[in-house]
Amino acid sequence: MAVRPADLRDDIGQILLSEEQIAAKVAELGARISADYAGRPVTLVSVLKGSLPFMADLMRAIDLPLRIDLMEVSSYGGNSTESSGLVRILKDLSASIEREDVLIVEDIIDTGLTLNYLVRYLRGKNPASLRICTLLDKPARRLVEIPVDYIGFEIPDQFVVGYGLDYGELYRNLRFVGVLKPEVYGAGGPEADAE
Ligand code: IMP
Ligand code: MG
Repeated sequence: MAVRPADLRDDIGQILLSEEQIAAKVAELGARISADYAGRPVTLVSVLKGSLPFMADLMRAIDLPLRIDLMEVSSYGGNSTESSGLVRILKDLSASIEREDVLIVEDIIDTGLTLNYLVRYLRGKNPASLRICTLLDKPARRLVEIPVDYIGFEIPDQFVVGYGLDYGELYRNLRFVGVLKPEVYGAGGPEADAE
């Protein structure tokens, strides 16, 4: 992998969502979730690696008895620009979710193929309920319809990085969500590296 400059911010062309905007939205989502579940225990299932900062902040904005679990998945098959909908589980749940109220915590829903697989997989484990919370929603590229219960921000069809989201595994540690300068992309464009 090419070495990138130490200051990753130099690669950002435009900040889409500031640290403050994200923090305010996370607080708002946490309050809504706390009210909706009305004191019932909830199990948050987050999907590594992109959802890590969102999960860490959201769980602390929720005022409910909660457990967390982590999964990691990767797409395979298809080609480099489109995910195939075939998903490989790299890390499975570490405990049963049977009869639990489960909330999936996602960083971004793009085509929806990954989440579609995940929802079917988790439903098979017989949770009492299954809802979805995503920080970002890119509806323009949706290939499968998925009812999403909690959406932070709807964003245009642009490839974004930061606050967990990567390009070539970098930029996850930025505190904001931004769009890369076009010259940062290789020949294949951003989608060539999206998992
Ligand atoms: P989907 O199956 O197309 O919905 O894929 C969702 C996954 O693709 C996310 O969890 C991200 O890992 C990745 N992804 C989609 N859009 C972006 C983006 O704009 N920036 C970074 N990663 C993205
Ligand atoms: Mg990625």
